[in-house]
Amino acid sequence: MLQANGIYKSYGTLPILKGVDLQVAKGEIVSLVGASGAGKSTLLHIVGTLDKPDSGTVTINRTDISTLNGKQLSAFRNEHIGFVFQFHHLLPEFTALENVCIPAFIRKVSRTQAEHRAIELLELLGVNHRKNHKPNELSGGEQQRVAVARALVNSPAIVLADEPSGNLDSENATALHQLFVELRSKLDQTFVIVTHNEELANIADRTVHIKDGMIEANQE
Ligand SMILES: Nc1ncnc2c1ncn2[C@@H]1O[C@H](COP(=O)(O)OP(=O)(O)O)[C@@H](O)[C@H]1O
Ligand SMILES: [Mg+2]
Repeated sequence: MLQANGIYKSYGTLPILKGVDLQVAKGEIVSLVGASGAGKSTLLHIVGTLDKPDSGTVTINRTDISTLNGKQLSAFRNEHIGFVFQFHHLLPEFTALENVCIPAFIRKVSRTQAEHRAIELLELLGVNHRKNHKPNELSGGEQQRVAVARALVNSPAIVLADEPSGNLDSENATALHQLFVELRSKLDQTFVIVTHNEELANIADRTVHIKDGMIEANQE
């Protein structure tokens, strides 16, 4: 599903990633852990096509993303990659339902079809009763569930999450973690999740440690 090989990335003269290899299979949940500043977000942005490595290759769904130009890359990202960040980044002027539909609209899916899919996901995530509410009318846990639904609306090959429960209380964090597991079993959804949360790291199939710009060891 995802293959990153020999990823190098420096900011100025400061090397951040020094030859990182990462493979993720379909339906796998991989957690990515490491100290603050270790390069977790940098790696996630590179495999998510938001940033370019200095060298190395990223292949998603058998496409080498370095072969895509800017416009193709945006389309590829919209279609194949879902993002969940620490802060929900929902658009405040739009309802939960509209927020979830936006990536589908960008993909030129019809309103009827997009809403059908969005409602299905909001139901699966237990927030469909909140669909006509704007983000500031939702709790933190609800906002993050809506953000997850938005990440899933185009049925991406992979969901990349950067500290998704970092801003939630422990009860909401646990509920969100359970949802990731549920989404994997129901949709065979693939996840790479950066986290400091031990509980979340533990529900992953595999934890990848990043240290000194390298992947340290893979643990089952
Ligand atoms: N755009 C940037 N320009 C310069 N330095 C950056 C930039 N983004 C990140 N860094 C630096 O790269 C290092 C790794 O950052 P990051 O990937 O965000 O770490 P993590 O997510 O593991 O906490 C940090 O030292 C950070 O300051
Ligand atoms: Mg980070």
